[in-house]
Amino acid sequence: MNQATMEQVLKDAEVALGHLETEGALEAWYVKYFGRENGEIGKLLKTIPELPPQERGTVGKAINQGKQALEAAYEERRGRVASAAMQEQLRGERIDVTLPARGQLGGSIHPIMAAKQELIDLFAYYGFTVADGPEIEDDWHNFTALNTPTDHPARDAQDTFYLPDGRLLRTHMSSVQIRAMESGKPPLRLIMPGRVYRRDDVTKRHYPIFHQLEGLMVEEGTTFAHLKGLLTALCHELFGKNRRVRFRPSFFPFTEPSTEVDVECPFCGANGCGTCSYSGWIELGGAGMVHPNVLEAVSLDPEKVTGLAFGMGIDRVAMIRYGINDIRHLWENDDRFLQQF
Ligand code: DAH
Repeated sequence: MNQATMEQVLKDAEVALGHLETEGALEAWYVKYFGRENGEIGKLLKTIPELPPQERGTVGKAINQGKQALEAAYEERRGRVASAAMQEQLRGERIDVTLPARGQLGGSIHPIMAAKQELIDLFAYYGFTVADGPEIEDDWHNFTALNTPTDHPARDAQDTFYLPDGRLLRTHMSSVQIRAMESGKPPLRLIMPGRVYRRDDVTKRHYPIFHQLEGLMVEEGTTFAHLKGLLTALCHELFGKNRRVRFRPSFFPFTEPSTEVDVECPFCGANGCGTCSYSGWIELGGAGMVHPNVLEAVSLDPEKVTGLAFGMGIDRVAMIRYGINDIRHLWENDDRFLQQF
């Protein structure tokens, strides 16, 4: 062996080591160079005695230095390969703890409740406060005191659920008028929003459960002009000044004279469509001057005080206000619908 061969062997070992990527390859390399039986380094060392005595020292030293350097490089390489393998394994087993949490849907105010609140706010401007009554009502408050005695045909239009004791699910908010006049004295300016029940077929505008806002103003000198002015101003506030409002003569047992209040249909520009039954108008509610018999039923003197009253559909207001062309949307709780509000 000469110096050049020795250097070549050490150099080869170093270069080969630099390319090794797996623990298996490293092991094979180690056996090749440091193997007890046939390792290349061992072979080099075994040739030393064949050298001339004066060279043995330097060559032996050089081989030992090369051997130490290779061992250190081997350890370093092994560490690197092991840590790369570990990284690879960790990458495979990785759990992404930064995943966003499953979102919660934010709630929002239901359009019926939004319309109700808007109405309450608007009427507050005219001095009206909110009054309430029970949903399970008695015959007196729902009908009889409202000038609608037992045999009155107007009851037919307001069929509802009856309890065995004769009480019923209220068919309108007018029942709360009676309660308000029984418990308070004029001047009264009240609005009474609430849920009412009626045997009604389901259509685009009708649902057997709906919401009404009843209004009552009882003061000396109240006239039909106040009624018209109040409701016109309110409709303009709610639906814009350009939307026409119509007062149509009508009949209610508890008012005289009576009117119905219609608003131009927003879905067809008053041309007629499925939502307004091709009339061009949507009925907002009924209104009128409180009937003298009603005032007498609550011990008020019709010669002294007069009153105006109205009852409007809150669901109808929501429909016109928010462009909902079918009342059923308000009751189906479809997320896709509700999320728009
Ligand atoms: N209670 C009536 C209904 O549900 C609506 C109504 C009409 C209320 C005229 C009133 C009124 O206060 O004056 O159909």
